Amino acid sequence: MTKTRNTFPKDFLWGGAVAAHQIEGAYNVGGKGLSTADVMTAGDRTTPRQITKGIESGKYYPNHEAIDFYHRFKDDIKLFKELGLKAFRTSINWSRIFPNGDDAEPNEEGLAFYDELFDELLANGIEPVVTLSHFEIPYNLYTNYVGFKNKALIGFFERYAETVMQRYKDKVTYWMTFNEINNQMDTFDELHLWTNSAIIFEDGDNKEEVTIQASMNELIASARAVKIGKKINPAFQIGCMMAYVPVYPYSCNPHDLMAASKMMERRFFYSDIHVRGEVPSYALKMWEQKGFTIDYTEDDLAVLKEGTVDYIGFSYYMSNAVTTLSDKRGQAVRDHPEAMTLANPHLQANDWGWQIDPQGLRYTMNLVYQRYNKPLFIVENGMGAYDKIEEDGKIYDDYRVSYLEEHIEAMAQAVNVDGVDLMGYTPWGVIDIVSFGSGEMEKRYGFIYVDKDNQGNGTLQRRKKESFNWYKQVIEQNGLGN
Ligand code: BG6
Repeated sequence: MTKTRNTFPKDFLWGGAVAAHQIEGAYNVGGKGLSTADVMTAGDRTTPRQITKGIESGKYYPNHEAIDFYHRFKDDIKLFKELGLKAFRTSINWSRIFPNGDDAEPNEEGLAFYDELFDELLANGIEPVVTLSHFEIPYNLYTNYVGFKNKALIGFFERYAETVMQRYKDKVTYWMTFNEINNQMDTFDELHLWTNSAIIFEDGDNKEEVTIQASMNELIASARAVKIGKKINPAFQIGCMMAYVPVYPYSCNPHDLMAASKMMERRFFYSDIHVRGEVPSYALKMWEQKGFTIDYTEDDLAVLKEGTVDYIGFSYYMSNAVTTLSDKRGQAVRDHPEAMTLANPHLQANDWGWQIDPQGLRYTMNLVYQRYNKPLFIVENGMGAYDKIEEDGKIYDDYRVSYLEEHIEAMAQAVNVDGVDLMGYTPWGVIDIVSFGSGEMEKRYGFIYVDKDNQGNGTLQRRKKESFNWYKQVIEQNGLGN
């Protein structure tokens, strides 16, 4: 492989990423309303998290305290500064600003909290990168409005976006609208639908049609936020946030290739609209064939066109392989309408079955850049793992370093060999946080260890892992070094 390890653009945004509900805690402090993330219990590797009706006594909700970043952010930012972060990606918790989502006035205490947080970051030379909705919305917008199925949420989101963009116009330049908006279309599973759109299906719902309607409402809301943001401060850089999981044909059978391409289309649907501002023809055709009626107006279409994004933020963790070959049925990990997912025999997986594929990152960057010709920003990447504190008090997380090193190497190839325009890299969970998927604390991503277990026990004390020193050096030398 060509050695191009040490060359990233001069102002490259080396950073770290988290989300409000996975880190802040203080779920009922400072006038905050209940959010959809507050009614999710803890699960584990094999047990899914439950979504309860309100908060039920006797159940454990890991996001209620999370790692108490709300009260400890000043100390944590000191560590981020020591690490050398140039950017810190977090989200604003919508229910801190509008506790019920439909309130007439924003909650000043919530606004003041993010003022303090952004000021502290800036004072330490760290650029805030902000997601407006990272897998949560005010719970009231579910109970009284059934989530993003309802077009009323477009207006509520727009008002929320306008409020925070106006308030932080001189503090935040980099924004993203909806986190991993395209995660909901693959499987229609409860967790993803809940976290993306606050949808719980009702009897008689056509799941795909309902998901598409909610998605269109979010895409319109996103475009409205982009338009408003650009009016508030034309220097804003506003992106979308996609989960890209490249889908490979399991074999070179052309039917497998076609199946993989069709599955990719389901994910590209979202960025196609965010970036090009038009509903793609493959989607219109599919809706027609399936008899779906998706409700949007000519005005909505104009908004989509006017509210296109400046860059493509995305997460990358793994790849996927699919086949249509019926003799492989016994090996299927998951069934989709057109194909089955199989484990890729060329890849290893982490303890949660996520297949590790650095080349897939380079491939994805090429694919996306060629499709859109817009700057890319890798805003999540990393490997969840169990960490152990050794007798000398250290955490030797060389597995984490290997994972990240290989991905940064692939990233360098995409930039320097393939000519991809990449703005920055913010690996996921710079500090240990509550896992979104399982609600565990012990699925750790961070360079900074947090003393807390899956049941919520621990002192919350922070401790640098060995990977901390490694990442610090990567940032200092603007790459891996030759
Ligand atoms: C992404 C999300 O899907 O992956 C994060 O944007 C999430 O919120 C991350 O935490 C890792 O997933 P998990 O399930 O390991 O926490």
